[in-house]
Amino acid sequence: MANTIKKISIIGAGNVGATLALRIAETAIADVVLLDIAEGICVGKATDLTDAAPLSGNNCKIFGTKDYTAAADSDIVVITAGLPRTPGMNREELFLKNSAIVRDAAEKIKAVSPEAIIIVVTNPLDAMTWLVLKATGFPKNRVMGMAGVLDASRFIALAAEAAGVRYRDVETFVIGSHGDTMVPVLSHTKIKGRPIEAVLAPQKIEEIVSRTKNRGAEIVGFLKTGSAYYAPSASVFSMIKAITGNTNEVLCVSCFLEGEYGLNDICIGVPAKIGRTGISKIVELSLNDEEKQAFERSAKQIRETIGKI
Ligand code: NAD
Ligand code: LAC
Repeated sequence: MANTIKKISIIGAGNVGATLALRIAETAIADVVLLDIAEGICVGKATDLTDAAPLSGNNCKIFGTKDYTAAADSDIVVITAGLPRTPGMNREELFLKNSAIVRDAAEKIKAVSPEAIIIVVTNPLDAMTWLVLKATGFPKNRVMGMAGVLDASRFIALAAEAAGVRYRDVETFVIGSHGDTMVPVLSHTKIKGRPIEAVLAPQKIEEIVSRTKNRGAEIVGFLKTGSAYYAPSASVFSMIKAITGNTNEVLCVSCFLEGEYGLNDICIGVPAKIGRTGISKIVELSLNDEEKQAFERSAKQIRETIGKI
């Protein structure tokens, strides 16, 4: 594994993939390969992004292709290939089509970039992360799914607005599945260092939890075609920065568990230290009984989806 991150490949040049490419290119973190089955889309977007690069004053290269050999020796690969939700659809319903797409992508990545760290974005997120881990056989520190960072950011946006504070004054963790059973961990949620219950009324907290769980569907309902991509791409980007900067900061990501939280052979959102080797440590939060039960319900839902693979 190289010490510096030179190349990031993004599989799927749709809304999340292309917006992520823009974020990487504008900060010149690494060269980008934007790969999609629809060649015109990824080549067109990569060409447009290349033309923007001189204006942002960096020399980052962005290359569009449908050919996996161009993604060889990537340090990080982000999988966004697959279908997004349409109004009324839940993330699990994407399972059939997306599992075939994601399995194929995982096998091809393994062949060309056996040392890469993979960040999975495609839904249903936790089951797709598990599938990538199994299809590649990569060690568990090098496969993670993006969801908790996004769900926590959504919670923070809502809680900060309700409490009239800055975003950075709110701390929280959202664990479990990236689905209706996700678990915002209220016992570890603080606003300006105080427990959330000391700042907001129970009804307001309940509303924030419910809106966080529904935020993705709320956005799908407005967009009609496609799902959220600005906050999702920003969430992947924050994971990439933790890896490239070797920050070892604690972020909630979908991780493969082997005994942590009493679970085995599952990928599920938990806090973890993220650095240059990927997941360097899973952090086990103390949960109250209600949170433990909610987390177990979430695990059950993921297992049901994994069971269909
Ligand atoms: P999109 O439709 O805009 O883009 C998906 C892209 O994947 C398309 O360009 C399509 O051509 C490409 N694709 C399809 N099959 C492919 C294949 N076999 N190989 C390569 N590329 C292929 O969708 P989007 O909004 O970018 O979302 C992508 C996925 O990410 C969806 O499954 C969505 O549900 C998921 N998502 C997850 C989160 C999360 O929090 N984990 C957030 C946002 C989106
Ligand atoms: C979201 C989806 C797309 O949460 O997973 O917006």
